[in-house]
Amino acid sequence: MAMTQDELKRAVAKAAADHVATQVPAGSIIGVGTGSTANFFIDELAKIKERVAATVASSEATRKRLEGHGIKVLDLNEVTALPVYVDGADEITAGLAMIKGGGGALTREKIVAAVAAEFVCVCDQSKLVDTLGKFPLPVETIPMARAHVARALEKLGGQPKLREGFVTDNGNVILDVHGLAIADPAGLETAINQIVGVVTNGLFARRPADLLLLATPTGVRTLKA
Ligand code: 5RP
Repeated sequence: MAMTQDELKRAVAKAAADHVATQVPAGSIIGVGTGSTANFFIDELAKIKERVAATVASSEATRKRLEGHGIKVLDLNEVTALPVYVDGADEITAGLAMIKGGGGALTREKIVAAVAAEFVCVCDQSKLVDTLGKFPLPVETIPMARAHVARALEKLGGQPKLREGFVTDNGNVILDVHGLAIADPAGLETAINQIVGVVTNGLFARRPADLLLLATPTGVRTLKA
């Protein structure tokens, strides 16, 4: 029988927990991402929580789930080094550039990823693409700059749509940019960062993943950049 998407996510979450158990020194602090795949990872991490000193969470939802398992969560400002950060993605290329932010946690995710020595991306095979952009690119924006940022994103060739009824953990709004075929992810990431009023965009190309654990029906594949 074919594996369901949840079974694929659980398999890759287990592989990521194995990575933590075997490749990361015991007593380390682990960065934890946000989303349904990250949630499966949190549940697997709970099984090896004696090996983990503490975690840093990339969202309030993740913090609550970690604490629900009795796993300690630290403020990032209390931490000087994170050996690994484990998170999902909405799209990822073979070069390990990603679109993230489908769950709206992109800013905290990018901050935790910036501190981490290794970014391990956990995905099912549906997320692997040749070109980023079919998934609308999330752009976290200061609320008063929403219309200005939307006009600037249109000039870059996209069609921004406000994510209705959604406020980020940082009190901002998200513009989801449709209609992009992103030939130069790092260049576009920089260009969008230059728009005044943008907090963060969901391109993770300047700091891509280091390792992709990709769930397929025949097993978890490992890809390095
Ligand atoms: C949240 C994210 C997630 O990593 C991304 O949306 C993937 O989520 P899922 O594992 O549920 O498919 O960037 O902001």
